[in-house]
Amino acid sequence: MEAGGNLKSLPKFKILKEAVASQIEVHRPFGGVVPMLAKREHQRNLPILLKQVARNSSDFDLIAVTVGPGLEPALWQGVEFAKELGKKLKKPVLGVNHLHGHLYSFLPPSKTKPKLEPRSLFPAVALIVSGGHTILLSVQDLTAWKKLGETRDDAAGEAFDKVARLLRLPYPGGPEIEKLSRKVPANWSDHINFPRPMLGTKDYDFSFSGLKTAVLYYLRDHKDAEPALVARAFSDAALDVLIQKTIRAGKATGAKAVFLSGGVAANKTLRERLGKEAKKLGMKFLVAEPKYNTDNAVMIAAAGYVTYLRKKRYKLSAKGDLSI
Ligand code: KG4
Ligand code: ZN
Repeated sequence: MEAGGNLKSLPKFKILKEAVASQIEVHRPFGGVVPMLAKREHQRNLPILLKQVARNSSDFDLIAVTVGPGLEPALWQGVEFAKELGKKLKKPVLGVNHLHGHLYSFLPPSKTKPKLEPRSLFPAVALIVSGGHTILLSVQDLTAWKKLGETRDDAAGEAFDKVARLLRLPYPGGPEIEKLSRKVPANWSDHINFPRPMLGTKDYDFSFSGLKTAVLYYLRDHKDAEPALVARAFSDAALDVLIQKTIRAGKATGAKAVFLSGGVAANKTLRERLGKEAKKLGMKFLVAEPKYNTDNAVMIAAAGYVTYLRKKRYKLSAKGDLSI
């Protein structure tokens, strides 16, 4: 990735080459990510990916690698691989926070993105929704933010995955729930009343485990329940909380823009609904195209560049519980 600019203007990125090695098929039979399989797959895939994207080493100045948060054995593989590559090519290696990757995922080019100017974006409110995290941030500029709230139990993506399992849908559950629920017309699932946990609380925290349990009890008590209706009712409940709390945070902090990111941001209904609510209030809405919402290297390169400018340095070792 090539980047230019400084923090007074938004950096411009050009993707020279990109590749993703998905492990979904490997983990699917187990219904979730198996840590040691993930480590093995990283070890196997990293050299293959490098060959796919390798260009002249004079094309880049810096190697960015995720140091956390995430599964430590898998992170370790990536960090060691990057360190060795850096030594071989005589390039500096920079540790990157995975969550900053999501946060900055809207920066790389996309066909639909409007011309961006920091003045019209900040302060912003950012919702990061992935398999491991649900975080709401107030973002002052590209280098400064404050956590407003986060989930107290399951992450939003985790809730989608767990409910999908209850409905006997394959892993990962998020896209499966979305596919099913989009088949259901509005109002058809209104008779299923799932809770909207913590919707009314004054803070910006979330909770999804009670909602998952409500789905479990509903399925136990309604053996002939139509899976698509349950998927729609669950999705409506989960998205209502995410959208309403994000908009409330945006209003309270005087946000000029809403950033949405993380694997769950690939959800079309969430993108459409949150985008509509933000625009109603005159806030810009920024979200990367779906392939940059689920984990990818482009977002890590973007975060690497911003980390470099921020002069913030992480230790080059895997840290599974690294916070934003
Ligand atoms: O960011 P990500 O790729 O990996 C983590 O860092 O966790 O997020 C993966 C999560 C999974 O829980 C997956 O089910 C969810 O994102 N996800 C979705 C959709 N696509 C992926 N959730 C809801 N709707 C989707 N379309
Ligand atoms: Zn992620």
